[in-house]
Amino acid sequence: MWMAMLGENPLVTCHGVVKIYGSGNSQVHALRGVELDVYAGELTMLVGPSGCGKTTLLSVLAGILRPTSGRIVALGADLTELSSWRRTLFRRDNVGFVFQQFNLLPALTAAENAAVPRVIQGWSKRRALAAASELLAKMGMADRVNSLPGNLSGGQQQRVAIARALIHHPHLLVCDEPTSSVDAKTGHTILELLRGIAIEFDRAVIIVTHDNRIFEFADTMARMDDGRIVSVERSQRTGDRPATLVG
Ligand SMILES: Nc1ncnc2c1ncn2[C@@H]1O[C@H](COP(=O)(O)OP(=O)(O)OP(=O)(O)O)[C@@H](O)[C@H]1O
Ligand SMILES: [Mg+2]
Repeated sequence: MWMAMLGENPLVTCHGVVKIYGSGNSQVHALRGVELDVYAGELTMLVGPSGCGKTTLLSVLAGILRPTSGRIVALGADLTELSSWRRTLFRRDNVGFVFQQFNLLPALTAAENAAVPRVIQGWSKRRALAAASELLAKMGMADRVNSLPGNLSGGQQQRVAIARALIHHPHLLVCDEPTSSVDAKTGHTILELLRGIAIEFDRAVIIVTHDNRIFEFADTMARMDDGRIVSVERSQRTGDRPATLVG
């Protein structure tokens, strides 16, 4: 298993990725030559001190931000060479996002929020809502699908945000501090769900976190400091896979 995994091609490869914000005297070197491979079927955690470049790296990996230099190859496409419109299509079809602020639309119900990516892809509202309700039900939210975000707890809102990120079965799921505003138990539930998705659906899940309560879920632990990846540990999978909430 381990040898087989080592032989796999990464889903995303970063080579010499540099990101400089601003210009002149106000330049910030957020990424200083990042080398990183991200594999499908794994949960990759990205950890490091505040300001070291984690969110910036997630943004370039996901095709949100264009790096200043370097190469990012994701699912066979060189993101650094795509036009901004092609990158938008790449994101729409291949990437799910979970941000620290859930960014739910307050006037839409839980199911409507989770359905948004499918509606953007052209699904009918009815079909997208049915899929969203089914996914939310699998996440223990069956009785809350018609609630507005303002009437949900933080952990419930987080689950809606995750459902929205998963609804279109993206190959790459990027999460920035997905457990920062939930209690330990909800944090574990969220991580079990995310890791189950990585393993069972052979997706690449990347999580930026400061939360050492969830480190145990990582298959790969990448440590960052000052704009660089300073170490990568890949653990051998034990074989006891976590129960998943998504079927
Ligand atoms: N839009 C921006 N314009 C200018 N500088 C930025 C911008 N975004 C981030 N930076 C700077 O780039 C560096 C890396 O920021 P980034 O947000 O990637 O760090 P981080 O590791 O995610 O930090 P945290 O753990 O606090 O979220 C920081 O010095 C930050 O101030
Ligand atoms: Mg950040």
